[in-house]
Amino acid sequence: MVSPRPDRLSVPPAPRPCLGRVTDPGPFFPEEGVALPRAQLRSYMPGDGEALAEATNASFEALRTFMPWARPHQSAAEAEATVRRFRGRWLLDEDFTLGIFDPTSGLLLGGTGFHLRFGPRQTGMAEVGMWVRGDQQGLGLGASVLEGLLRWGFQVWGWQRLVWKCAASNERSRRAAVRVGMELEGVTRRDLLLPCGELDDTLWFAALAEDSPLAREVR
Ligand SMILES: CC(C)(COP(=O)(O)OP(=O)(O)OC[C@H]1O[C@@H](n2cnc3c(N)ncnc32)[C@H](O)[C@@H]1OP(=O)(O)O)[C@@H](O)C(=O)NCCC(=O)NCCS
Repeated sequence: MVSPRPDRLSVPPAPRPCLGRVTDPGPFFPEEGVALPRAQLRSYMPGDGEALAEATNASFEALRTFMPWARPHQSAAEAEATVRRFRGRWLLDEDFTLGIFDPTSGLLLGGTGFHLRFGPRQTGMAEVGMWVRGDQQGLGLGASVLEGLLRWGFQVWGWQRLVWKCAASNERSRRAAVRVGMELEGVTRRDLLLPCGELDDTLWFAALAEDSPLAREVR
């Protein structure tokens, strides 16, 4: 075996350019929600469990293809435990899950949120997730909520990078991201186990505060 030359070992790696800096803005107490043209988004609260059980049970067929958590029969008590966990994690600055409510009737239309999948809030990065109840899918609600969420997220929360990832076969989800101007950054191949047991590719979309028009448009 040939040993590496000693002079090669002593060469330090070339410095890499710094592309940004994370600064901790200190304590942050997020707004509890936002009113969008078609929906009211707010943190789940104790007492929302019954609404969550109703919405997800009624949407099982429309969610089961891509949402591994979807169950046909979730009890109100199980859903109540879930919303309390969401609320607790919100208050602890650990994760920010939001319900999507009809502004007039108060019906739960779906869920979304800023999820800390890349580090704490101070990194300025989060993943946006979303589900829309079955009888409301394909009517433009998801894309309009996503647009409002990006605008609110950049302008009020101060996110620097928001990510949307979906199965390559999830055409509605892909089109929602394209519709709001998120950029397809890449595809990771055969890394996503769908609930049916098959593998799919993952599409990674992102929007950056520094170049998204939504970061500057009037709310
Ligand atoms: C993905 C989801 C959040 C999108 O919300 P939505 O309200 O159904 O979507 P929208 O009605 O806003 O439509 C989004 C885009 O999909 C298109 N679309 C709607 N129905 C479609 C269909 N049956 N097939 C293909 N595209 C469709 C819309 O035309 C729109 O694209 P456009 O802007 O280019 O016209 C929602 O469908 C959902 O909850 N799906 C199940 C859970 C899920 O997959 N979540 C996303 C995980 S990444």
